[in-house]
Amino acid sequence: MGIEVEITHLNLHGQGVGRAGRREYRVDYAYPGDVVEIRSAGRGRWCVSRLISAGTHRTRAPCPHFMRCGSCRWLGMRYSSQLEFKRELLRRLFGRETEVLPSPVRRYYRNRMDFTVGRSIGMRRYGSYAEVESALGCLLFSEHSDSIITRSREFFDSRALEHYDIARRQGFLRYLVAREGKRSGRRMVAVVTHEGSFPLREYAEALGSLADAFVWAVNATLTDTSKGEVRESLGGFEEKLCGLSFRVPPFSFFQTNTLQAERLVETVRSFVEQAEHLLDIYCGVGTFGIALADLAERITGIEEDAEAVSAAVDNARENGAENISFITGRAEELMSGIEEADVAVVDPPRAGLHPKVVRALRRLKPGKIIYISCNPRTQARDIASLGYSLEELAALDMFPHTPHVESVALLTR
Ligand SMILES: C[S@@+](CC[C@H](N)C(=O)[O-])C[C@H]1O[C@@H](n2cnc3c(N)ncnc32)[C@H](O)[C@@H]1O
Repeated sequence: MGIEVEITHLNLHGQGVGRAGRREYRVDYAYPGDVVEIRSAGRGRWCVSRLISAGTHRTRAPCPHFMRCGSCRWLGMRYSSQLEFKRELLRRLFGRETEVLPSPVRRYYRNRMDFTVGRSIGMRRYGSYAEVESALGCLLFSEHSDSIITRSREFFDSRALEHYDIARRQGFLRYLVAREGKRSGRRMVAVVTHEGSFPLREYAEALGSLADAFVWAVNATLTDTSKGEVRESLGGFEEKLCGLSFRVPPFSFFQTNTLQAERLVETVRSFVEQAEHLLDIYCGVGTFGIALADLAERITGIEEDAEAVSAAVDNARENGAENISFITGRAEELMSGIEEADVAVVDPPRAGLHPKVVRALRRLKPGKIIYISCNPRTQARDIASLGYSLEELAALDMFPHTPHVESVALLTR
């Protein structure tokens, strides 16, 4: 007999919370109003082993891998409830009502997927660091993803190429990083392997028109990351955003939900209005700086990924943005060299701003800071330490079926 829990609310991580006796449980894939039987998923985590009765937020998850695959924790939740809970999260963090703009598409909305190659090709299984749940039938990326996975598997088997076993630290094939330009129509597949040799041309022939660009990269480290040193590439990848073209290197960051990212850019533009010297901190391939070029006298982009900066330089030229320069390095080290700026756009990774970046912004005192974040918890923490007032907050659903929400804060002095 398992433990029975009635879920009363969601915590800030989007997990269902409920009590059984005196103990509180945080349950993945469970939503308020559900009564569920739970099982331990290790390390203090719990998940649903049986749905006893469904609450009003629950709907049928349209994926055979739901609750086995570690992604899409909210796929079993109605979309209107997803938006409502994201709004509630922002209310708890910022104490204000913020409408969350729905994603224009909820199926195949991602322009990038990092598939782990294991016995299956797909995502890490929920609660497991080594097992892989197949992504066949996954609705996140593309209607071509099943063909890419199946054709890749056939090719790997025909060449007797083994997957990398992370537990035994043996094997060869590690990741398939697939990109699909929702506006450009281009597709790229990068194969990340352990050290060895990979027949990229034959692989490209086997995949045929499923992609226009192919990359082979090596990650010979013990770190389980879906990127590597590029050994060979055939073609490149680009995506369009708000009518601008962006070349994106195989492993560099690019906004994942293209259609919603266009609205994100519009929001940032409306917050910036105009600038003399605009800083685009954590600029990636130059997305915001280039999209804001007509609003500023000059722009400086800062980014640690050298490949992204090299693409950003090309992207600025390609899009006729002549007033932008880029500096490669860590923001926390480079910010001390910046002497003045009247507007700063910051778009850090989930961990938020480095304390040195916060200190540098406090010293520079730009009139406006536009803080874009995929993690409102660290964003709220950073806003508190910046000492600016929160003038406006906008939110967009960039990641349907997950608890993640993108928030954009306009901060003024
Ligand atoms: C959320 S992405 C935003 C990228 C870009 N603004 C865009 O919209 O495409 C964060 C970026 O910060 C970069 N990054 C991470 N840590 C950094 C650091 N310490 N200093 C500078 N850039 C960093 C990453 O490489 C990534 O490109």
